[in-house]
Amino acid sequence: MKTLPLTDDTRLLVLTGAGVSAESGVPTFRDAGGLWEGHDVREVATPAGFVRDPLLVWRFYGERRRGLDGIVPNAAHHALASIERRLGDRFLLVTQNIDGLHRAAGSERVIDLHGDLMRSRCSSCDRPPFEDRQAYRPGVAPMCGRCKAAGQDALLRPDIVWFGEIIDRRFLDRIEAFTLDAGRRLVFLAIGTSGLVHPAAALVDAARTVGGTSWLVNAEAPANVDRFDHVVLGAAGKLLPELLGVGEPPAV
Ligand SMILES: NC(=O)c1ccc[n+]([C@@H]2O[C@H](COP(=O)([O-])OP(=O)(O)OC[C@H]3O[C@@H](n4cnc5c(N)ncnc54)[C@H](O)[C@@H]3O)[C@@H](O)[C@H]2O)c1
Ligand SMILES: [Zn+2]
Repeated sequence: MKTLPLTDDTRLLVLTGAGVSAESGVPTFRDAGGLWEGHDVREVATPAGFVRDPLLVWRFYGERRRGLDGIVPNAAHHALASIERRLGDRFLLVTQNIDGLHRAAGSERVIDLHGDLMRSRCSSCDRPPFEDRQAYRPGVAPMCGRCKAAGQDALLRPDIVWFGEIIDRRFLDRIEAFTLDAGRRLVFLAIGTSGLVHPAAALVDAARTVGGTSWLVNAEAPANVDRFDHVVLGAAGKLLPELLGVGEPPAV
């Protein structure tokens, strides 16, 4: 099998999607026919859906939180944490996942582009997002409590970037700075993503623009497969340890 050309000069930018967590037992999204666990994303993952039915949205995310009980990182997450320990600041991991599994595996230079399932924030005031592992309690929409003093309490919401919402500019700036600084030394590696959700899907083009090399590891050829220099089809957990030259993860 091929291995990634990682030299002392390489800057490795990794993008992961739902596929990297599939072998941990977290269901992917498009694989379920565009539905997310039987739900239309417009109902459960848009600001309009939340205004229409916050209880449904909270029930959905409560189930997703419960679904992560007992879920652990797989060999792909461990391989990425391992290569980060070798590369240090020459590594950056951008994930579309909200499951926290990269950090659980030990990755530190992580950008959670779409938020974190285990965090909540206020839908109104600017209190910082906070860790929240609460499952859904039937019929109860969690409230902020802190904006009560200002007159009217507001709903809490999951700290997730929903469809139609804007990604934190600071995240995009950090990715852009890493890419521009890397230039031709950039190796871009996308793993387990269907290449449909922007802006993540366009990172491969940015890599090309600066003269970098792009790799894709995916179970099947996604929409933007033609834009990659190298494509390796198969399961991320099986392929990545060898592809990154880090061997098997430590037994736990
Ligand atoms: N684990 C999670 O946090 C999670 C799970 C589902 C959806 N989501 C959200 O939904 C959106 C979905 O977009 P997406 O592109 O990340 O996911 P996606 O579900 O649209 O695509 C997943 C891709 O991974 C591939 N894949 C499946 N199993 C694989 C494996 N073992 N190894 C390698 N590839 C595999 C599939 O062929 C598919 O192309 C994201 O924005 C994300 O926030 C997150
Ligand atoms: Zn508030």
